[in-house]
Amino acid sequence: MTDLVPFKRHRRLRSSEAMRQLVRETVLTVDDFIYPLFITEGDNVKNEVPSMPGVYQLSLDQLEKEIIVIDELGIKAVMLFGVPHEKDDVGTGAYIDDGIVQEATRVIKRAVPNMLVVADTCLCEYTEHGHCGVIHEKEVDNDASLKLLAKTAVSQAEAGADIIAPSNMMDGFVAVIREALDRAGFEQIPIMSYAVKYASSFYGPFRDAADSTPQFGDRKTYQMDPANRREALKEADTDVEEGADMVIVKPALSYLDIVREVKNRTNIPVVAYNVSGEYSMVKAAAINGWIDEESLVLEMFTSMKRAGADLILTYYAKEVAAWLQNK
Ligand code: PBG
Repeated sequence: MTDLVPFKRHRRLRSSEAMRQLVRETVLTVDDFIYPLFITEGDNVKNEVPSMPGVYQLSLDQLEKEIIVIDELGIKAVMLFGVPHEKDDVGTGAYIDDGIVQEATRVIKRAVPNMLVVADTCLCEYTEHGHCGVIHEKEVDNDASLKLLAKTAVSQAEAGADIIAPSNMMDGFVAVIREALDRAGFEQIPIMSYAVKYASSFYGPFRDAADSTPQFGDRKTYQMDPANRREALKEADTDVEEGADMVIVKPALSYLDIVREVKNRTNIPVVAYNVSGEYSMVKAAAINGWIDEESLVLEMFTSMKRAGADLILTYYAKEVAAWLQNK
């Protein structure tokens, strides 16, 4: 009893670990995670990305070994990015039958048939200028790019990709890719659209990993202004109308408000992309011994799920899978 004024006792439900587990609202499982991979040409290549310790560019032979490890950790899906040697003005490497992502898809499906392959559909890793579409008079030409992106998606599906994930931010990309997939007989292949993708400085390390830095200008005419919220809802609504099966919000950490709003608006799965810069910041602090990496990273992903993410794309997926196994 107390002689204080009446008040609520919230601490009752925090009294022990068992009690806390009983009332926990958000739980992480390995099924929530998708692991991105960077695939390059050559033999026996395993290049660590300097700005992303623990993340590698892998050649196909290395990928064949790595995918077994990923599978053993219980991870269900990987996302593929290609790092080809040859680039040109129109991103040919993105949509040729023996392109690096197409070959990587075949290697994975042969080694671990149940592993879901998510193909990132974009041109920036394959164009000399590093933009996500084709250039016409120094501008990214939306409609000309759409044709090549549709071709890329069909070629990825032909190679065996299970999910198409277009990240290019051209207008109409979901509609055009959906139609092209359907016409090619891939009406069962879902589209995980990068519906809400901000022009973010958090992508810096990725551009080292994928060698995709724009050679002139920036991506602000197609990726979104980080200051905008309503625009994110407009983008998400459009992609849902055009037939997206899942929507990505990217980056994640500084954009959890957007994850929540998109979640409240749609019934399809929402994916948070914990991007390269978010990974590198935490990794750097961990390497320096400034944070408790495991508990901080698990807290971060719990916050993404709490915000409404059904799935999380992250370079931490392997480590998280191992941590969750030991819990
Ligand atoms: C390609 C693409 C990018 C990322 C995913 N797909 C880079 C960009 O738009 O510059 C970023 C991923 C990351 O930073 O982890 N368009």
